Amino acid sequence: MTTPDPIYKTDALIAENIDQYLETHQHKTMLRFITCGSVDDGKSTLIGRLLYDSKMIFEDQLATLEADSKRSGTQGEEIDFALLVDGLAAEREQGITIDVAYRFFATEKRKFIVADTPGHEQYTRNMVTGASTADLAVILIDARKGILTQTRRHSYLVKLLGIRHVVLAVNKMDLVDYDQDTFDTIVSDYRTFADSIGIEEFTAIPISGFKGDNITAPSDNTAWYKGTALLPHLETVSVEDSLEQAEPFRMPVQWVNRPNLDFRGFAGLIASGTVRPGDEVRVLPSGKTSTIAKIVTFDGDRDIAVAGESVTLTLADEIDCSRGQVIVASKSPLEVADQFETTLVWMDEQELVPGRAYWMKIGTQTVSATVQEPKYEVNVNTQEHLASKTLDLNAIGIANITTDREIPFAAYKESRDLGGFILIDKISNQTVAAGMIHFSLRRAQNVHWQATDLGRDHHASMKHQKATVLWLTGLSGSGKSTIANIVEKKLARMNRHTFLLDGDNVRHGLNKDLGFTEADRVENIRRVGEVAKLMTDAGLIVITAFISPFRSERDMVRSMMQPGEFVEVFVDTPLEVAESRDVKGLYAKARAGELKNFTGIDSPYEHPEAPDMHIDTTILSPEEAADAIIARLIP
Ligand code: ADX
Repeated sequence: MTTPDPIYKTDALIAENIDQYLETHQHKTMLRFITCGSVDDGKSTLIGRLLYDSKMIFEDQLATLEADSKRSGTQGEEIDFALLVDGLAAEREQGITIDVAYRFFATEKRKFIVADTPGHEQYTRNMVTGASTADLAVILIDARKGILTQTRRHSYLVKLLGIRHVVLAVNKMDLVDYDQDTFDTIVSDYRTFADSIGIEEFTAIPISGFKGDNITAPSDNTAWYKGTALLPHLETVSVEDSLEQAEPFRMPVQWVNRPNLDFRGFAGLIASGTVRPGDEVRVLPSGKTSTIAKIVTFDGDRDIAVAGESVTLTLADEIDCSRGQVIVASKSPLEVADQFETTLVWMDEQELVPGRAYWMKIGTQTVSATVQEPKYEVNVNTQEHLASKTLDLNAIGIANITTDREIPFAAYKESRDLGGFILIDKISNQTVAAGMIHFSLRRAQNVHWQATDLGRDHHASMKHQKATVLWLTGLSGSGKSTIANIVEKKLARMNRHTFLLDGDNVRHGLNKDLGFTEADRVENIRRVGEVAKLMTDAGLIVITAFISPFRSERDMVRSMMQPGEFVEVFVDTPLEVAESRDVKGLYAKARAGELKNFTGIDSPYEHPEAPDMHIDTTILSPEEAADAIIARLIP
């Protein structure tokens, strides 16, 4: 008899510290996989079974499990493995798994990290989160139900996220009497679908997570099945780490380590390739070159480091390099661009607002980015392209993205690290989408900024003033236009050069193609912001009067201007007051339902949280408000 591997002993499982546990198994390769399927496909049972069969359960946990199984009324003597995985009491009560849970286990041959992702449609976010680092996906099917919408949607995501290996686990075979025809039909249905989305290969295995058939060893109940059982398959599928190491060297800089003036190290996780002292490298996007001086780690300097390792690099020359930049092999640099075609998986209750600026987190950097109206949305069941002006929760679409600066990147299919990104709402801080870059758009590439000899400072000083944007925001009927008009007249008397941009007027010309949907208002403010910016370049004091109901866009305009140049003036009039004035009769129309998307009625107004000036029109007259603004402008 051979000595059993230590991990098969339960005491080894009391490695509560995962790091320590992984350390024990460091010589083994690691397989990261996800399980996906619909709610009742038996994912938790399967994972519980894998943990159990690889003896990864503490004994006291086992005892509770047996007790719980009895209480939950499981038939016969079997243990309800789902109870083990659905550890949280709340989840247990609801009977569903609601978040991504990562579980670790190991066998003699390999160690595993499995991301258990919930099956509910609204949890695409979790699936994408779990899948983004996986090597393999186990797609679970209930043998009684066959292929469902969820199966298609998850398979589509698996393909989209570039997961290389797919296992089709046809579960609950015990409930169909281990019938071969049932299995064959499901496999052939799935093959048709897989072909249509470009999944070329998958391994189909008939299993029962509940009874344990074909989990660790071939089952006598499915004598007709000649393939391997699930666990042996997971133990032997190739993980292709070596492929990543054969790629050119790339390391996004996580942080710059500068403990003293004599040391400047660039720390990060190597995304691909290998690096050695003496290698010529280039820092992107700046393009500056240098050579690697040292590879520093906790365990001393190294002669070589490879993809997947975290290291600190020092360079032979003092060149600029900061967080978010990417150090690459100088002979095979990455592309640098600021416009991209992408696939987006929308994950927020709030739909995409084209034109709005979101934070885009790609690699180790965060930039501001706007998404254009989608080119199309994909129906994941039929692969049909649907026309769409936005993306709702769980929608997958193709859209162009523009970033506020050039970023080094790779196509997602070449590098998940350098081509995958998430979008974050700037106000709520929610992750709203996951995305993948297809390629850069070249249209901006041949347009360069033309330097002019007379700069903005020159224009302003000729007018003996400082360029400024007085941005008045507030409800319709709050008094913005009235106040703006008085401010302009007063400034003219003081020989200041001004220009007044008013919502109603601009909507007669430049913006006459825009209505009052969220996306149109965003575009309205973007254009006005650009015009105001040109006017500040001309040295003018620009006064604007737009409802500008959204914080994101007001912040966007602020970020377009020089520091201190943008003055946000909140013209604060309670809705009742504005409505009672109703100068244009629009509130009455909106209340009567004849006017849609009216601000304050059926479209939101997000009041400024920290305006530069707050004008309470219930206290100040328009004249007094104008004086207050001027006093602030010209002290
Ligand atoms: S914004 O929301 O995009 O900033 P903007 O200030 O340009 O709006 O235009 C607002 C003006 O358009 C209002 O003063 C009003 O006269 C008119 N208007 C017409 N329809 C609407 C609507 N649905 N909501 C708000 N204002 C409207």
